Parts: sequence; structure tokens; C-alpha cells
Amino acid sequence: MFTLALLLCLPVIALAATSYSIQDTYIGHDFLDTWNWETANDPTHGRTDYVDKKTAISSNLSVASDRSFLMRADSVNMVPPGQRGRKSVRISSPGAYGDSVLVLDLWHMPTGCATWPAFWTLSKNGPWPHGGETDVIEGVNNNIDNLASLHTTGNCTMPQTREQHGHTVSTQCDTRFNYNQGCGVSFTKPNSYGQPFNANGGGWYAMSRGERGIFIWFWSRYDSSVPLEVSQGLSTVNPDPDLWGKPDAAFPTDSCDYQSHFDAHNIVFDLTFCGDWAGSAYGSSGCPGNCIDFVDNNPRAFDEAYWEISSLRIYTPNDNTSLL
Ligand SMILES: *[C@@H]1O[C@H](CO)[C@@H](O)[C@H](O)[C@H]1NC(C)=O
Ligand SMILES: *[C@@H]1O[C@H](CO)[C@@H](O)[C@H](O)[C@H]1NC(C)=O
Ligand SMILES: *[C@@H]1O[C@H](CO)[C@@H](O)[C@H](O)[C@H]1NC(C)=O
Repeated sequence: MFTLALLLCLPVIALAATSYSIQDTYIGHDFLDTWNWETANDPTHGRTDYVDKKTAISSNLSVASDRSFLMRADSVNMVPPGQRGRKSVRISSPGAYGDSVLVLDLWHMPTGCATWPAFWTLSKNGPWPHGGETDVIEGVNNNIDNLASLHTTGNCTMPQTREQHGHTVSTQCDTRFNYNQGCGVSFTKPNSYGQPFNANGGGWYAMSRGERGIFIWFWSRYDSSVPLEVSQGLSTVNPDPDLWGKPDAAFPTDSCDYQSHFDAHNIVFDLTFCGDWAGSAYGSSGCPGNCIDFVDNNPRAFDEAYWEISSLRIYTPNDNTSLL
């Protein structure tokens, strides 16, 4: 009797986990058709001139095909006097998402001296940091390990030790501490960022967010542990560590109330140069001379400063019908 009860219970436990269904898919021209090109001054003080959609298309800085979408920095021209900086692209999603799973299939990310790309999400309502910020992909210069972070209002911290592959860089998510460092996790799996990421054909990044927390996974292109539902872009995903493996970065809600720190977020891709992080880390990254001079005068050094996206899929939770 006892054995039978156990056997009957197992499938119920497995199926009680939340699954998510496809809500929005962005491939190739979908980005050009629906996303917003943002042209404000870079808030992180970069040597960057974010161009509008029309300019991005006519200067070939945003290029859609049937199989990919590419966004790049100008790698042809010197920065003329009076321009804000090197021409680049920052785009945001038309929709905002609360509890959800994002799956990004990426061929290439910007890399090289002076670069600071990010794939991240930001409260639609704000004002920042109200409603929170989650940085999924971020790094500078010649970094090779991804850094994922949260930036929030007060009373949000993370445990030093968590069920994650990455290592904890900071536990304080409140933007008022450590000059807005946020609570970051540095990835330890190989090929998560920069030149090695690109040389290995890119890979997949996924983020799930909900009441239990925010969890980020990364799989390099030839990592055989990538779940089929991620690599094949299936219509349902189950971001459960029992199925997807231990996340690379885990931000549990034990000491950070989820509802009061995170609301609906837009998704953003950007690429800035120098500024608060890439600029201050420029010399120690082994990059030559002065960051701003380098950006202004070396267009060909930005050949690798581009995003090439295969697809971005956003999933939202299914009704959690009780099986009992
Ligand atoms: C625009 O960029 C695409 C993708 O890199 C490239 O194939 C094409 O030749 C470029 N076109 C021009 C006019 O530079
Ligand atoms: C801080 O958050 C914890 C839960 O994460 C909550 O119990 C506590 O009341 C909060 N404190 C303040 C001052 O908001
Ligand atoms: C199902 O969802 C409802 C509301 O969305 C929630 O209150 C309840 O706890 C959930 N049940 C399970 C088993 O997750």
C-alpha cells in the first residue's frame, strides 16, 4: 500500500511545477516591425550616439533577414567633432512582462575594448529603480565571463550561498549601496561572454521570474545539456531546476519581497562605449591609451561590436490546474 501511494504521488509532484506558454516570438524582421529605437543620451555616460530607427536602417546599423536580426556599432567612420560619440543602437520591446520566461537564442554579442553591451529588463513604470532592473547579459571590454545582476529599491538582499553555478559578487541589490553595483553573479561556465561566446557559435540565455525569484540559465551552442524546449523554441517551457539543471544565477526572494520590488518590465538590448563601467575598467582590461580617444579614432576596432539574434521568445505562466 505504502509503495503504491508513493508511486502515485510522484507524477503529481512533477506536474505541479509551473509551465509557461509562448506569448511573443521575435525573429528577424519582427524587431524592425515592432521594437522601439531609443535615442536619449546614454544614462551611463557612454561615448555613444544612439541613432533612430531610420538612421539605423540607412547606415546598416540594424539589419533584418529571415533568420536573424543584427545591431551593430558604426565600424567605418571616425567620430566627428560635436557628435555624442560612436553611433550605436538601443532598442526596447513593445510589450512589458511580469511573471514570465525569456529565451534568447543569440549567435553573437558585441565585444572588444571600450564596449559595454547589455541584454536586460527594466520596469515600464519606474521611475528607476522602482519596479526593478534585471541584467541578464552584461560585461565590458575583453571580459569573458557574464555578469547577471539585479538593481532595486531598499530592503532587497541575496544570500551569499545559493543553488547556482556562478559565484556571488555582491549580495546588496539596493541601488543606494556600493555606487549602484547591484547584486551580481559572475558566471563560471565556459564561453558565457565575449570572444569565447562568439567563437563557439553563441548559445542560449533564459530567465524566469515569479514569486520564488529570478533565475538565469546559460548554455553554449554545443552544450548537450540544453533542454530541447529551449534549443528548439517549443511552445511550452518548464524552467524547473529538475529539468533544466541548476541555474547559473539564482536570485531567490527569501530576503527580497518579489511583489514590492518587481513589476512589469520592458526588454532592452543596448551597446554603449566607455562610460561608468567600461570606461573605468578600460585601463585594467589591458586596452590601449584612453577610452574616448580609442572610440573616436579607431572605427575598425569595432568590427566585432554587434549583436546577432537568432530569436527571442517570451512565455507566460499557464493556469496551474490542481491535479489532486
Ligand atoms: C549591411 O550589413 C549586412 C550584414 O552584415 C551585410 O551583409 C551587407 O553587405 C551590408 N550592406 C552594406 C551596404 O554595407
Ligand atoms: C524587508 O523585507 C522583508 C521580507 O523580504 C520583510 O519581512 C520586512 O518587513 C521588510 N522590511 C521593511 C522595512 O520593509
Ligand atoms: C495557483 O495559482 C493561484 C493564483 O494564481 C495561487 O494562489 C495558488 O497558490 C497556485 N497553486 C499552486 C499549486 O501553485
